Amino acid sequence: MLDYQMITLNNGVEIPQFGLGVFRSEVGTETSDAVRWALEAGYRHIDTAMMYRNEADVARGIRESGVPRNEIFITSKLAVQSIADRKFEEGVESSLAALKTDYIDLYLLHWPVTNFADAWRTLMKYYEQGALRAIGVSNFQVRHLQKLEAEGLVLPAVNQIELHPSFQQRELKPYCEERNIRIEAWSPLGGRDFLLIDRPEIQKIAKKHGKTGAQVIIRWHLDTGNIVIPKSVKKNRIVENAQVFDFHLDAEDLATIAAMDTNQRSYWSPDRWDEPEKK
Ligand SMILES: NC(=O)c1ccc[n+]([C@@H]2O[C@H](COP(=O)([O-])OP(=O)(O)OC[C@H]3O[C@@H](n4cnc5c(N)ncnc54)[C@H](OP(=O)(O)O)[C@@H]3O)[C@@H](O)[C@H]2O)c1
Repeated sequence: MLDYQMITLNNGVEIPQFGLGVFRSEVGTETSDAVRWALEAGYRHIDTAMMYRNEADVARGIRESGVPRNEIFITSKLAVQSIADRKFEEGVESSLAALKTDYIDLYLLHWPVTNFADAWRTLMKYYEQGALRAIGVSNFQVRHLQKLEAEGLVLPAVNQIELHPSFQQRELKPYCEERNIRIEAWSPLGGRDFLLIDRPEIQKIAKKHGKTGAQVIIRWHLDTGNIVIPKSVKKNRIVENAQVFDFHLDAEDLATIAAMDTNQRSYWSPDRWDEPEKK
């Protein structure tokens, strides 16, 4: 087993701080192999979504690994279209069916589509029934969280947001953490089209610790309290990304990475769905 920390969410459920993301892992064996290799390497947390269309392949990878379901933390997400079309229950049921499981450990609203508060009420219902062990949101800005709070609804256990050295979320991260909403970093390495692992600042730190650029960035997330879910479909990289539990960054490294923040997103803005004129 890997030596990752367990983070206790606001309802007492524990989530491994480190996991595998499967966004853009192709439908079929690309995803099931990645999941199986990750579980063989000691990962116990998989992050998928309806919109990735690979929930069934995640289930297959889990089955092929032989690791018992109750040792694995599965996150999935209600798709934008399900929220927009108000097909909340159908969405949750379709994730449960595709993942071939009676319960999902963490279920998120994928993006803050206009009628997200009603979708959130449906997740609350499934949570109360036990089919979702914890519920959270993704890509929510302060105004979206304030709306849930104003309506007197349960606060999310996590907010999964774009966060990496070039986009450190200096306002949203403390806002969430002050309310015990844990931060999960997506595109933690910068994402496919904006990878940061070869940046000179990262490479300098990597050489100092005898590590790779990816390992340095993953360690930075762990050392700064983020839940981190790097994606790879390559066995050697899946193993490499998990070899981060035998070193720490020092104050100088942290200062170097802090200075890399340009506050620039690499992907969609959350405004895309509820204020499309700004997207
Ligand atoms: N909630 C949301 O809206 C949202 C949005 C985006 C992502 N996510 C989640 O966050 C996860 C991670 O984000 P992401 O997939 O966008 O980006 P990422 O993990 O930052 O980067 C993935 C890219 O890095 C490459 N890579 C991974 N490890 C590497 C290594 N050690 N050396 C060199 N290249 C490496 C991968 O290529 P190979 O696969 O070819 O190795 C892939 O192109 C997703 O998979 C998904 O689960 C959520």
